[in-house]
This record gives sequence, C-alpha cells and structure tokens, in this order.
Amino acid sequence: MKACAEAPCKAIITGEHFVVHGAWALAAAVERKVRVEASEAEELAIESEGHRPDDSSEKRLAPVAKVVTKISEELRFNPRVLIRITSHVPEGSGLGSSAATMVAVASALAKLKGMELATSEVARYAMAGETAIHGKASGIDVNICATGGVIMYKMGEEAKKVRFAGSRRFLIVQSGTKRSTRTLIDRVSQMKVKYPGLFAGLADSASFISELAATRLVNGDMQELGRLLTYSHAVLSTVGASTPTLDKLVDLLLALGCYGAKLTGAGGGGSVFAIPREGSTDALITELKSRGYESFQTNVPTGGVRSWLG
Ligand code: PMV
Repeated sequence: MKACAEAPCKAIITGEHFVVHGAWALAAAVERKVRVEASEAEELAIESEGHRPDDSSEKRLAPVAKVVTKISEELRFNPRVLIRITSHVPEGSGLGSSAATMVAVASALAKLKGMELATSEVARYAMAGETAIHGKASGIDVNICATGGVIMYKMGEEAKKVRFAGSRRFLIVQSGTKRSTRTLIDRVSQMKVKYPGLFAGLADSASFISELAATRLVNGDMQELGRLLTYSHAVLSTVGASTPTLDKLVDLLLALGCYGAKLTGAGGGGSVFAIPREGSTDALITELKSRGYESFQTNVPTGGVRSWLG
C-alpha cells in the first residue's frame, strides 16, 4: 500500500523576519507543489528525485528523518517506511520548499498509518524538520503550507484564515541567487541586538502593516496593497535582508508598472513577490525573461496539503 501527499509552497506577503520576533505576518499558499509518496519498507529510507544517495544528500535528508521519527514516536507506529520526494519548488528561493516537503512527509505518513491529522498537527510535526534546517524558525512556513489559502500568523497563536471572494493574481520572480534562511535569520537578529528599540518599533509596524495588507487583499485593493509591499521591502532592506540585486529587481518591477514589489521569505537572494497591473502579467513575464529573470504567476487563494491512498 502507498500513501501520497501534495503540499503547496508559499509566499510571505508581509512580516517575514519580524514574525520570528513575535510580529504578525501575512502569508499565502502558492500553486507550485512538493509531492511525497510513503510506503512500508524493511527500514527507514528517504529518496529525493534528482539527488544521488551520496553523503551530502544524506545530510540534506536528515531533517525529513526527524519528522518521521517525531511522528512515529508520538503516534506509536514503526518508522520503517520508504519516503519518496518529488519537488516542483525551487530550493533556497524563499518559497518554503523545505516546509512544503516536511508538511507533505507528515501528511503522507499519517495517511499511510490510517490516521487523520488536523492541519495544525501536520504543521507541528513538520516543524521538527524545519527547526533542524533553519534553526529559529517562526513556524509560518509549515502552517501556510499545511492550511493553504491565506493566513495571518503570529508565533504561539492559532493561525487565522483570511477569507475573501474571488482570487487575486501575483507574480513571483526568481532573483537567481540561492541562500540560506538560517544565515539571514541570524543577520537580521543581530540588528535586534544592536538596535533593540528601533527593532521593536519596526516589529510593531510589521504587525500593523500585515493587518492592513490583509484588509486590502480582502477588499481587492491591489494598488494600496502594492504600496504596502514596496514599503515593506524598504524596511526589510534596512534590517539587512535585501541585496543590491533584489533592490534592482524591485525597482525594475515598479518601473514596468507593478503596483508594488518586495523580497519574499528570508531574502539575501531568493524571490521577489509583486502585484502586476491587470492584464499585464504575460507581457511582464516575457519582458523579465528577456532580462534573464524567470518568473511565474500565482493565483491566491490555493488549497493546502492533501493526501490520499494510491
Ligand atoms: O525564505 P524562507 O522560505 O525560508 O522563509 C523564511 C521566513 C522567515 O520569516 C525569515 C523565517 C521564519 O521562520 O519565519
């Protein structure tokens, strides 16, 4: 018997980094997915498509083993399973590829063992792998990948689903540079140590911006939401999360007519999240490609993790 699960990746709309320090953040599930198949085996084995089973991939897959161990210990089943991972999410690009993987692993495993887990439980198990990779992660990534749609998230509180009629279109542009979330979290945390008063003020304002951004999103006021994104990028740049390439990309997107743009996720490279003007997305993607940037559009909301027996 085999169980499958698919989890979406994510984009943080506002509040990344500050969420690690207790602020509210707004995040959306994004339509690119990680698929995981789980089946009974002689011993625990983890395979990831596109990676050879050498030492480095063993190290890479160790966080997945942590999720398997945690869930099997707590739910009392044997962890002798084969986990097969196929990802359509670029790694190290701020789109939560590791969170989507961990969520899909927890979900597929529960399905294989005949257990129905609430999405908050799936996120809790997935967090064992996220912490192993990123160190001090807030938990927003695993929560949005598990829940889907759009959420307001604050550490220690139940994620709040943001609901609205219809759908909204965004553009995700790859800067082409991979980076480590852990390094970026450490860099921004040093700003907190250096300027505690200033950082506290910025974290408060990130919460306020996230509330405001959620309202703009619900009302479909994309122009105003865009302004909030561009402002958020400037703040993230101030605390060390941006790079000259990301700043240039944000400027380019604004010059090409987007309502707003910002880095998304940890920054330091990775992706930029932008709001295209109505009817301009296809031309924008072509223009970006001619300048060497890969991009794709995503419709929000999209569903969270789902699992089935196959
Ligand atoms: O770049 P990603 O996809 O790993 O997102 C990290 C988001 C942070 O706010 C920087 C960290 C976190 O755990 O919230």
